[in-house]
Amino acid sequence: MKTKTFLQELQLAKTNNYAVGAFNIFNYLSAQAVIRAAEKLECSVILQTSTATVKKFGTQELNAMLRQLAWGASVNVMIHLDHCQDVEMAKACMDAGWDSIMFDGSHFPLEENIAKSKEVVAYAHPRGICVEGELGKISGVEDELQVEAHNATNANLEDSIRYVNESGVDAFAPAVGTAHGVYTGVPVINFDLVAQLKDQISAPVVIHGGTGLEEDVFKRLIKNGGAKVNVSTAIKHGYIDGCKEFIQENPTKLEPLAMDRYISEKIESIASYHMRLFRAR
Ligand code: 13P
Repeated sequence: MKTKTFLQELQLAKTNNYAVGAFNIFNYLSAQAVIRAAEKLECSVILQTSTATVKKFGTQELNAMLRQLAWGASVNVMIHLDHCQDVEMAKACMDAGWDSIMFDGSHFPLEENIAKSKEVVAYAHPRGICVEGELGKISGVEDELQVEAHNATNANLEDSIRYVNESGVDAFAPAVGTAHGVYTGVPVINFDLVAQLKDQISAPVVIHGGTGLEEDVFKRLIKNGGAKVNVSTAIKHGYIDGCKEFIQENPTKLEPLAMDRYISEKIESIASYHMRLFRAR
C-alpha cells in the first residue's frame, strides 16, 4: 500500500521523534518477513536492497518481486536502494521503479560528491523519487562496500550543511561513529552532530550501522534527530542462524517450506524488535 513518499515518511518521523526502520532484504522470504513485522505493528517500513542484491536478481525482476509484496501490504512499504556508488546503476533502479535511492559518493572529495549527488537528484526529482546522500566514511562491511576502521571519518557540521544545501538530497546520512557489521568494541558516537543537523538542515538524518547498538543508543540517536535507521547484518544473521538451527533440530526432515517458515519467523521477530524500539519515545 502506497500512502506517503519516502521524504514525507521521514519528515513525519523527524517531527514526531521516532524513526522509520529500513531493513536490508535479500530475497522474497526476508522481504515478506519484514513486511509481516511492519503489518503487525501497523508501521511504515523501508525495504532496502544492496547493489549486490540488485545485480543478483536484475533491476526489473527485483522491483517486480518487491513491488508486488508492497502493493499487497496493509502498511506503506517503500523500496530503497542502499549505498549505490554508481550513477548509472542508480538511474537503472529509478527507471525500474525504486521509490528512493541512496547515492553514496562519500569516497569522493566533497566537490565531486556534491556534483555526482546533484546529477542523481536531477534525475530523481522529476520522477518523484527521493535521494539519500552520505558524507564521511562509515566503517565496516556492507555487502560490496568495505571501509577499514582506520579509514573511517566522521562528517563535520560545516561540510554537511554545504553538501545537503548544494546537492539537494532529501535525506542525509552523516558518518557519526556507528559502523556496518558487528561491533567489536563500544562505538564512539557523535550524538551532538545528529542534534545539530536536525536543527540546521531540513533533510532528515539517516543512521547507518543499526545492528548491535544498545537500546539507549538507538533512543538517543532518534531523540537527537535520526529519522531513518538502517539494519542489515541482524537480518542476515537471522537468515543464516535460522538455517543452521532448523537443520540442527531437524536433521532428517525433508521439508523446505517448514524451514522457510522457521527462518521467516526468526527474521520477523528481529525486524519487529527494531521497529518497536524505533517507535518508542
Ligand atoms: P548494519 O549492517 O550494521 O545493520 O548496517 C546497516 C546499514 O547501515 C545499511 O546501510
